[in-house]
Amino acid sequence: MLTNFNSMLKSAYGQKRAVGSFNFYNYETLKGILQAAEQMHTPVIVSFGKKYLANMSFDEVQALTAASAALCKADVCLHLDHCDNMDIIYQAIRAGFTSVMYDGSALPFEENAANTRRICEVAHASGVSVEAELGSLAAGASSHEGSADDVEVYTNPDAAHEFVQKTGVDALAVSIGTVHGLYKGTPNIRVDILKAINEKLHIPLVLHGGSGTPEEKVKECISNGIAKINVNTEISDYTVQRTRELLEKENPHLSVAALNQMQYVAEVVQKYMGIFENV
Ligand code: 13P
Repeated sequence: MLTNFNSMLKSAYGQKRAVGSFNFYNYETLKGILQAAEQMHTPVIVSFGKKYLANMSFDEVQALTAASAALCKADVCLHLDHCDNMDIIYQAIRAGFTSVMYDGSALPFEENAANTRRICEVAHASGVSVEAELGSLAAGASSHEGSADDVEVYTNPDAAHEFVQKTGVDALAVSIGTVHGLYKGTPNIRVDILKAINEKLHIPLVLHGGSGTPEEKVKECISNGIAKINVNTEISDYTVQRTRELLEKENPHLSVAALNQMQYVAEVVQKYMGIFENV
């Protein structure tokens, strides 16, 4: 069933749990994520980025997700991942996404806040929730988000407080040392900064760059206000690797390879759901 993002995240935040937000790009990735959610009896956010509009249009994504979610026992949100283009955000809202992320993190504070506020006005009028970002993440290996030039800027707790007051955003993505993609060295996750942000904000916080983040750090983050965790790279890397192994062993019909891919996606998603739910 398609569900409201805001109530899903508020309940996770109140219970010190995090909902997994998993990127999908086609039918197989969507179905694999939903199968995992059913098996783990957990709500889930399926997240689609504008980069994948070459694979599916917003209308196709919404129709497929609504039909699949109606058959799924778990609660499902359809979320637009990182989007710096306001017109594309309005298209996703019109198509029926349940939440959108406006990413103005590369802009000066006031411009990011003004744009986020405008998006909130439009989205909230349609019952759609909004995530925004302050600070920025670096990109690790195999990242499909951002670019190698991305500079890590930690989120400032006072600025985050002012940002939320000015915008009325439902959830805030913070930068505390995770990276988009796989870590190139030992991760330095600044739970102290997260704690300071959470003490000031009291709204669900979002951790991007979930892939490869050490389990104990993830759990500490969830105990300190993280209620949504994004995973993309590992879904793709793991599924491509397992598909390669399958093709080296046998020459399956495409329909069989597709079924296998759903299973690979479900395996990696279940692993993360187990970590996010069991704090
Ligand atoms: P990873 O690719 O590092 O899992 O990050 C995903 C993400 O943050 C999507 O917005």
